[in-house]
Amino acid sequence: MATSTKITPGQVSFLLGYIPIFVVWVYSELLQYWKRKYSSKLGKHYDADLACRHLAHPREDTETHLLEGGLVPDSSENCKFSPIVRLFCLDKDFLIENRFILRTMVEFGALLLYYYICDRTDLFGESTKNYNRDIFLFLYFLLIIVAAMTSFKVHHDGSTFSGKPIMYLNRHQTEEWRGWMQVLFLMYHYFAAKEIYNAVRIFIAAYVWMTGFGNFSYYYIRKDFSLGRFVQMMWRLNFFVAFCCIVLNNHYMLYYICPMHTFFTLIVYCALGFQNKYNDRSSVIAIKIAVCFLVIVLVWEIPGVFDVVWSPFTFLLGYVDPSAITKYPPMHEWQFRAGLDRYIWIVGMIYAFYHPTVERWIEKLEEAEVKRRMLIKVSIATVCVGAGYLWYEFVYKLEKYTYNRYHPYTSWIPITIYICLRNLTQQFRSYSLTLLSWLGKITLETYISQFHIWLRTGGPDEQPRMLLSLIPNYPMLNFMLTSAIYITVAHRIFQLTNKLKMFCIPSGDDKNLIYKIIAASIVCIALYCLSLLLLKLL
Ligand SMILES: *[C@@H]1O[C@H](CO)[C@@H](O)[C@H](O)[C@H]1NC(C)=O
Ligand SMILES: *[C@@H]1O[C@H](CO)[C@@H](O)[C@H](O)[C@H]1NC(C)=O
Repeated sequence: MATSTKITPGQVSFLLGYIPIFVVWVYSELLQYWKRKYSSKLGKHYDADLACRHLAHPREDTETHLLEGGLVPDSSENCKFSPIVRLFCLDKDFLIENRFILRTMVEFGALLLYYYICDRTDLFGESTKNYNRDIFLFLYFLLIIVAAMTSFKVHHDGSTFSGKPIMYLNRHQTEEWRGWMQVLFLMYHYFAAKEIYNAVRIFIAAYVWMTGFGNFSYYYIRKDFSLGRFVQMMWRLNFFVAFCCIVLNNHYMLYYICPMHTFFTLIVYCALGFQNKYNDRSSVIAIKIAVCFLVIVLVWEIPGVFDVVWSPFTFLLGYVDPSAITKYPPMHEWQFRAGLDRYIWIVGMIYAFYHPTVERWIEKLEEAEVKRRMLIKVSIATVCVGAGYLWYEFVYKLEKYTYNRYHPYTSWIPITIYICLRNLTQQFRSYSLTLLSWLGKITLETYISQFHIWLRTGGPDEQPRMLLSLIPNYPMLNFMLTSAIYITVAHRIFQLTNKLKMFCIPSGDDKNLIYKIIAASIVCIALYCLSLLLLKLL
């Protein structure tokens, strides 16, 4: 049944890790079940701890006794053993306490198996993409209308009452922005809507802009450069994609959005983190931004430098499409993808830096007399519309390859115009469509999931050229069903990633975190070696 040819060590490692966790989880649920049964027999006034202890050691089990070093089993606070040791020893109290997190892991793994089944086996069918502009636009605007009718919301954010205008570029708006772009971006893939290629480039630039903007604001204002926070961020960006790569035997660059955002996030982090005690001075920030800019110019604009800098990372960022007609060198994909948006994150940083200034300016504008305010707003709108028209005529309409050459230098224009128009009046600023914001929160998961459980790649490193077909011969019905499952699963993955993140990464305890990282690495390496060995033997 399997269409993919060989089982990789990564996949074997995943199974070797997953099966024991699954077994332990079932065991922990049984323990809980027995515990409840036992305690209900004891009546109302039972001591949970006592019951548990009794259950855990019904007859002095010599093995556990030995493993626990002869200690009296006690509650987790004064247990001398680390979680991993307790897990290996099948410490019963520990398992009962942590059965929720085991359940989370099991569910996460089960969803990954679903990805594998959809994409790499012939259990479900596949169908071809089919573009019809009318249906495409119909579906999109239908969603916008539904969103407007069901989830239109006015935000007050506690500031309107004090006469202060609503913060511009607030979270609701950026999330809504992410949401409507993401829907178009995904539908572009689903229907192979080649004619909006240039627009999709702009959407991706806008995400990268938000990465620069959001991360700069965060580190500039919160000044939290701790290891915990850093690892949490990397986890959020890469946890799910890492498992997808392992289970489906893909290269990281297949999901190019992930390495790209990780890379730009890392630069923002390093730029602001370096000598961050001087970040209060504007000149220091200006120098830092200029250095970022120079580094990008050096690497991407000067021929030859890119290869020297990036070739050591080919193992991580290399990618070759197995069924492409023209074969490019492995690093071409990274050069092209990251190159398209190489400046826009810096623009995001600059906008974030001037954010307080602009906010003060808007505040003053809102307090100005009506006539002057209207005049200024109308002129801003006119300039935006005029500039937008020129950009549309002379840049957007270009053919795709020519357009890509201009994209890095012009993508800031539509983004700036959107930002200005979206925030032109107080009312505009306070409105948002929460359905779109909800979709905007799970963009990373919907992006990755689409390859496998909505579209279909069919093999390692393949681009998603087909559609997953659960209901053959009914393309629209199939679209509805696969979309519903896909969005539900993506949202669930988002929740599971967060739960696991909160469990695994203690905030504000770097020593504990380092210990955990080392332990996790040892477990991973052991699993990998074991699977290599197994594959050799079989
Ligand atoms: C930093 O950028 C990443 C990538 O876009 C994003 O997921 C994350 O939320 C950003 N961090 C903050 C604090 O905005
Ligand atoms: C501009 O638009 C963004 C994106 O939706 C929004 O979040 C922000 O509030 C607006 N900014 C201004 C200056 O009005």
